[in-house]
Amino acid sequence: MSSSAQDTIFGFSTPIAKGAAVLLLMVAVTVFLFSVPGDGSGPHNSRILVQKFYFLPLLLAAAWFGFRGAVVATMAVTAVMAGLIVANWPGNPEAHVERMGEVGVFWLVGALAANFFEQQTKHLNDLKSANENTLYVLASALDVREENTGLHSRRVADYALRLAAEMGIKDPDALAVIWKGALLHDLGKIGIPDNILLKPGPLSEDEWEVMRRHTEVGFEMLADIAFLQEPAEIVLYHHEWFDGTGYPRGLKGNEIPLGARLFAVIDVFDAVTTARPYRTPESHLGASAILRQNAGSHFDPDIVKCFERVPFPDWEGIASRNSTTLFRKATS
Ligand SMILES: [Fe+2]
Repeated sequence: MSSSAQDTIFGFSTPIAKGAAVLLLMVAVTVFLFSVPGDGSGPHNSRILVQKFYFLPLLLAAAWFGFRGAVVATMAVTAVMAGLIVANWPGNPEAHVERMGEVGVFWLVGALAANFFEQQTKHLNDLKSANENTLYVLASALDVREENTGLHSRRVADYALRLAAEMGIKDPDALAVIWKGALLHDLGKIGIPDNILLKPGPLSEDEWEVMRRHTEVGFEMLADIAFLQEPAEIVLYHHEWFDGTGYPRGLKGNEIPLGARLFAVIDVFDAVTTARPYRTPESHLGASAILRQNAGSHFDPDIVKCFERVPFPDWEGIASRNSTTLFRKATS
């Protein structure tokens, strides 16, 4: 879910911003080109030199838009070069030949660069997909062990992305951190013994002590993996409560990272709306009431407000895609 290297060259992240940057560079080089003395009236090679600056927008177009971008950019450069040749015709034949040769080089470089960047993008996407599948397998391993939670990890990861969107989080890297953190939030439970993790009845205080360690165990498992260091914070802090009564650190309010505050809401929403051997699931309305009652104590009240703004069909759609039934209201 993270953006590729060429997606973030010079910080441009949207297609419109990238297109505008390429266009602006093209126009700047063209204006510069026509502002220097032409053939025979100034330094002989002034324009020949300036036109080489076209390589910059051309390479950026190839990096950001692939073959199509390279072709459009090179066609624009070709048109300018043709205009110069026509405007100076018959002029200096040697300069015309040199310019036509340069156009050929532009096409060659554009094609090679587009091919290179498309290959790089494919490799990055393959790597990203392999990473995501590895995370799915890790999360699924835990879900299978905790038989009663089924697809909990995948479902909460999808819920978390929906809530993040409602909170106005658009940055692909920030969304990827939230998705990975949500998917792996309970990874540390792998280190909890079966007799505690799968115990059907209530846990003793000593058993809770062991269970609470899952946040730190999960964090330690992920913290040394470069691309999981930020998601590891969600894993560590997802049981912190807004009023400072949570664990493992007892952080309060905005001391708790935003992703962990967001996820705390989703974790409880999912826990109360899915069936357990010892209780029937809450409806969406019932779960919303629980979240509202605990806003300000357990949960960030602003995040609970965002949660309540998300239409029920959105939650229901995510639940359904993850083989779960979510009811709007209690059925009995
Ligand atoms: Fe947990």
